[in-house]
Amino acid sequence: MRVGVLTGGGDCPGLNAVIRAVTKSLINHGQCEVLGIADGFEGLMGDSPRVKALNWDEVSGILHVGGTILGTSNSANPLRDAATLEQVRRNVKALDLEVAVVIGGDGTMSLAHGLSQIGLQCVGVPKTIDNDIASCERSFGFDTAVATVTESLRRIESTAMSHHRVMIVETMGRHAGWLALESGIAGAADIILLPEIDYDLQTIIKVCQEREKRQRYTIICIGEGAKESGQSLTVRERVESSPDPVRLGGVGHVLRERLQPHLKSEVRTTVLGHVQRGGDPTPFDRVLATQFGHHAARLVLETQFGHMVTLRNGRIGSVAIADVANTQRTVPMDSGLLTMARDIGICLGEA
Ligand code: F6P
Repeated sequence: MRVGVLTGGGDCPGLNAVIRAVTKSLINHGQCEVLGIADGFEGLMGDSPRVKALNWDEVSGILHVGGTILGTSNSANPLRDAATLEQVRRNVKALDLEVAVVIGGDGTMSLAHGLSQIGLQCVGVPKTIDNDIASCERSFGFDTAVATVTESLRRIESTAMSHHRVMIVETMGRHAGWLALESGIAGAADIILLPEIDYDLQTIIKVCQEREKRQRYTIICIGEGAKESGQSLTVRERVESSPDPVRLGGVGHVLRERLQPHLKSEVRTTVLGHVQRGGDPTPFDRVLATQFGHHAARLVLETQFGHMVTLRNGRIGSVAIADVANTQRTVPMDSGLLTMARDIGICLGEA
């Protein structure tokens, strides 16, 4: 069996661990040839496909390395028009690919689902630092990103204390608040603002003013998809070719401008950006990514095509890609983490 492997969407720590586990499991099985596809679906969209054979040596020594040895793209859309789709079909046929292991987020899963119409079978592996893929309670990359943001919050806190400032730290996460919430709790943020709860400016002003009198500094952790009640999302740019054209970013600066006139202390914003996606995966993410890759190989060997690996109730399993394509997992309003945060005095920006 000829099996393709590709990484799509934004990169995240642990991708190489999946590539390694898929490849080693399939090679060990003895009847599979593994081809790495370059730069996500882009590697299948040109006049000739861009692939390289993956052997044991090729995937050795990469378990702990961040990023992806295959390259990735979050703007390649093989479904964008009939000509592109036909080119992908020709490339898949020329390569004699029976199935592709597609490692990506919800956008990549939607594309994988769409490609079944030209006969490319896929097995999905969920990846994202946003932790927002439906039916999967933990995606690899998230733990590493939480560790990075948490450390950043600790660093911000010491300078905030010294200068008696209000420090706003903006995290990634798109329309899900998992990253801001878990990092904010772990990094002892005083105020955590999430896309799931529109914030009330007056509440935030009041908390900061109270803290000006006593602690004399405040740490606000805000997810990029958060917004003030009655206002719109802060969009950094639109990438029309992408399956998900809206790129968020900058809400931390918007909040600073709204907050500063009401406070004596200086308000500063740090947008953490891609530092959250880079670097080596934590041990937790290395193990989870290896489990996901191993399970994906098993789905290939059992010809359970059209399925994505999942983690549910602490167990590795699978779900039909059709059921997760175009859906996102956000923080539920009855989350125990939200209740706990409120109970220990963290402000969630609620009126
Ligand atoms: O989905 C992962 C993610 O890191 C989001 O949290 C973020 O909004 C987006 O990708 C940024 O993507 P890029 O800057 O690479 O376009």
